[in-house]
Amino acid sequence: MDSSSSPLFLKVSRRSWWMESLRWWSYVVYEMLVQRAQAKHLKNPLPLPPLHDVTCIVTGSTSGIGLEIARQLAAFGAHVVMAVRNKSAASDLIQKWQTEWHGTGRLHIEVMEVNLLSLNSVVRFAEAWNSRSKPLHILVNNAGIYSMGEPLKLSKDGYETHMQVNHLAPALLSILLLPSLKKGSPSRIINVNSIMHYMGYVDTNDMNFVLAKHNFGSTKAYSSSKLAQVMFSSVLQKCLPAEVNISVVCVSPGTVRTNVTRDLPKFVQYAYNLFPLFFFSPQEGSRSALHAATDPQIPEYCKALKADDWPHCAYISHDCRPTSAAIEAHNADTAKKVWEKTLDMIGLPLDVVEKLLNGEEIMCSYKD
Ligand SMILES: NC(=O)c1ccc[n+]([C@@H]2O[C@H](COP(=O)([O-])OP(=O)(O)OC[C@H]3O[C@@H](n4cnc5c(N)ncnc54)[C@H](OP(=O)(O)O)[C@@H]3O)[C@@H](O)[C@H]2O)c1
Repeated sequence: MDSSSSPLFLKVSRRSWWMESLRWWSYVVYEMLVQRAQAKHLKNPLPLPPLHDVTCIVTGSTSGIGLEIARQLAAFGAHVVMAVRNKSAASDLIQKWQTEWHGTGRLHIEVMEVNLLSLNSVVRFAEAWNSRSKPLHILVNNAGIYSMGEPLKLSKDGYETHMQVNHLAPALLSILLLPSLKKGSPSRIINVNSIMHYMGYVDTNDMNFVLAKHNFGSTKAYSSSKLAQVMFSSVLQKCLPAEVNISVVCVSPGTVRTNVTRDLPKFVQYAYNLFPLFFFSPQEGSRSALHAATDPQIPEYCKALKADDWPHCAYISHDCRPTSAAIEAHNADTAKKVWEKTLDMIGLPLDVVEKLLNGEEIMCSYKD
């Protein structure tokens, strides 16, 4: 018998799994308990600089944190593209925001369709945007899922759904939009990440949890997708030449009351809403992303991290302060493996960044 299936091993590994889970959940509970105190220096809403002549794409802007990011960027004058799968919900929001708007002129917001559960949809979105030959200044990869308690599900592309929506699809979008981000330089890619990446573990030989399917849990899948995002973003930042001036930043929004609990039983959702004091509102939760997207010091900070050969890209906490990502994200070898595996999974060649920045055509296997 393989020792890993012996009752003693199972007992010990189950115990250590519980210990590990307990340790990592304590990070989340700690964040929830102290986030308000840690962020008390921040105004709500966060005051932003004027954003006229700035173009932003915000994914998942029909709900929660993304909705607030899009609304506030537009209120400060940016041209905002709501990149969403539910176009009619986004159009209804725009109509509401225009009606409520008391500033001069009209808000400059539009809707474009993208479904992150389809990599072909991401390619079509990027092609449609790039074909405008317009600069892009800020890409906010906000859309995400956390299907708490759900069993392992694969997308039609054959990938575990948390990994696809939270990591693979945003990675593909970021890379394919590089030509437009280069036109908009200095520009930024902001990834709405999570403190739960601390619980993550990325097995590059099993990004779909097929080998680990008996041990699958939505929390494991969610946290691993968020860790994969930090690692991929870190290698991307290193690959981008300094003169191109594209900053890649991951942010933690805090623990925020949003529709992220939609898959939970109704009584759990009710319990979740019983603690409004501890949870951030979506407006409070949008501050770290808005800060990373607009603060003038961010590009310099990213350059300094790169010059110091810091192992990961900039990570901004829920209180808008720079912080260190999980120790696992400091592992350059694993990050490189995650980078290579991700490019393979999203159908892009290893030299894609260099080619796109040189204005060359690339082939993506998810293109029609
Ligand atoms: N809430 C928290 O406490 C918390 C903590 C840490 C990190 N985050 C992160 O914050 C981000 C925003 O989450 P949220 O809390 O604001 O949740 P939310 O209210 O559920 O919003 C998620 C957004 O993502 C969109 N989305 C989901 N699947 C998509 C797909 N396949 N294609 C395109 N869009 C899709 C949703 O669109 P539909 O409305 O069409 O479904 C929605 O607009 C996520 O990345 C999440 O992981 C949240």
